[in-house]
Amino acid sequence: MSDEPKPVGDPVADAPASSPSSSPAPKSEGKVVVSANAITKRFGDVVALCEFDLEVRDGEIVVLIGPSGSGKSTALRCLNGLEEPQEGTLQVLDYDMLDSDTDMDRLRARVGMVFQHFNLFPHLSVLKNLTLAPRRVRALADPEVLARKLLARVGIEDKALAYPDQLSGGQKQRVAIARALAMEPELMLFDEPTSALDPEMVGEVLAVMKDIAATTTMVVVTHEMGFAREVGTRVVFMDEGRVVEVGTPAEIFDAPQNERTRAFLEQVL
Ligand SMILES: Nc1ncnc2c1ncn2[C@@H]1O[C@H](COP(=O)(O)OP(=O)(O)OP(=O)(O)O)[C@@H](O)[C@H]1O
Ligand SMILES: [Mg+2]
Repeated sequence: MSDEPKPVGDPVADAPASSPSSSPAPKSEGKVVVSANAITKRFGDVVALCEFDLEVRDGEIVVLIGPSGSGKSTALRCLNGLEEPQEGTLQVLDYDMLDSDTDMDRLRARVGMVFQHFNLFPHLSVLKNLTLAPRRVRALADPEVLARKLLARVGIEDKALAYPDQLSGGQKQRVAIARALAMEPELMLFDEPTSALDPEMVGEVLAVMKDIAATTTMVVVTHEMGFAREVGTRVVFMDEGRVVEVGTPAEIFDAPQNERTRAFLEQVL
């Protein structure tokens, strides 16, 4: 294959002289929130991540795209310590993720994650789903006040006393997002948050994510290329556990440099 993977370097140095106006410029001036260098994660003989590099700066919305099995979920799970790479270095916020002394509970209190299948506590009301972790981990005088504010922000303040099985998929996912926000995370991770939803509910969840993107650093795995283009500050195309190409949405979607990126986008766009 003639195309070489584009190196992942300093986005300040790598930024094009003028970004197309259709995509937001990378907010490269922020402090580094995630720094993954050549991380490799194997499951037995399967190499899920192979010398994977990623840098995320404060305020960025980084979208990971790629075919099934390319390592997107594994990459996200490494970022909040659900998986530990065998090789490389990984710094998230100020935590060394390969140091066995790192307190993962403290890290996870600062990194929110939203999954495809919501993962709500079915036996707790919406309100209790939101207040459980803040009550335990954060010394908030009244976590309910924040919880109700967040439910209003995601448009379901009237569901505070409902239980998860009384909600639509889109409502459940909005609760899951509000629950993550209740910890006031410095980084939010989303793993295909709309993939399990009926089509008519995808838009409402994407609208909430877009709202949050204005104030929160995010890494998002999604097949919603419209969202990636509109909200992403950078798009990372992965294949076979590696970063194949990184760029602004305009660079990746309008002028992909790598043959594998082009082939993937032809299938999904
Ligand atoms: N817990 C695990 N045990 C064994 N293999 C795993 C495990 N998790 C992931 N893998 C393997 O690692 C590779 C990457 O998986 P991963 O789930 O990260 O891909 P993905 O890009 O998120 O795919 P999808 O788009 O289907 O969600 C795959 O080959 C997968 O089978
Ligand atoms: Mg996945």
